[in-house]
Amino acid sequence: MKKLLFANWKMNLPPEGIAQFASAMAGARGDGIEVAVAPPFPFIAELGAVSSSAGIILGAQNCSDKASGAFTGEVAAAMLRQLGARYVILGHSERRQYFGESSSLVGQKVRRVIDDGLAPVMCIGEDQETRDAGRTVELLRRQITDAAAEIGHFPDELVIAYEPVWAIGTGRTATPQIAAETHAEIREIVRHLAHGCALRILYGGSVTPDNAEALAAEEGIDGFLVGGASLSSEKFAAIHRGIASATARK
Ligand code: PGA
Repeated sequence: MKKLLFANWKMNLPPEGIAQFASAMAGARGDGIEVAVAPPFPFIAELGAVSSSAGIILGAQNCSDKASGAFTGEVAAAMLRQLGARYVILGHSERRQYFGESSSLVGQKVRRVIDDGLAPVMCIGEDQETRDAGRTVELLRRQITDAAAEIGHFPDELVIAYEPVWAIGTGRTATPQIAAETHAEIREIVRHLAHGCALRILYGGSVTPDNAEALAAEEGIDGFLVGGASLSSEKFAAIHRGIASATARK
């Protein structure tokens, strides 16, 4: 399966501008790595106007669990699809922490996104306290199982992003060993629930040009979900090169 490099701009825009970012990334395409960018909702169309010539797949950062209707402030998966989006990030730790999203709700959103023809990128991850207590796998299993109860059948397009909360925006990246071990645990959990699902697992949390290659060299790390460093085409393209050279060495 292709590696996936995914930019999560959160509630930010790249200072260089969307068009400039896209044209810089056009130079980085190739090597069989999928590149996706999830801008804030109001900028999806603007990115969509230049994304295909830049080899960028359009993504979104969230959506409603409902198909349509009287849900003020919500955005439907079908609308994102109409704008040309292919991926939707769901259950990011910021959504869980600041907007009270439970794993069950995340599972309902995953189901909605699948039903409406998009591919979900479901985020899971433990906080520092949980890791210190040695309960990481237990928590990840609960996050996946609670979501799975709502999802039902896991599709092959399912992407899981493992994002330890202690590594997001902190500059403290998981070591390649921790990331690889945890990815293997996640794969095992999913294998029990959905045997044969062609799952891709991304790592996220302070990925930078300096650590991308070492992380990408690990077995079972299928790409990255990048926050801070995805706001600069220079850094994002350098992460892309890191994946390409790690893959070439395998
Ligand atoms: P970060 O964010 O790369 O800034 O740590 C990752 C994420 O939250 O997806």
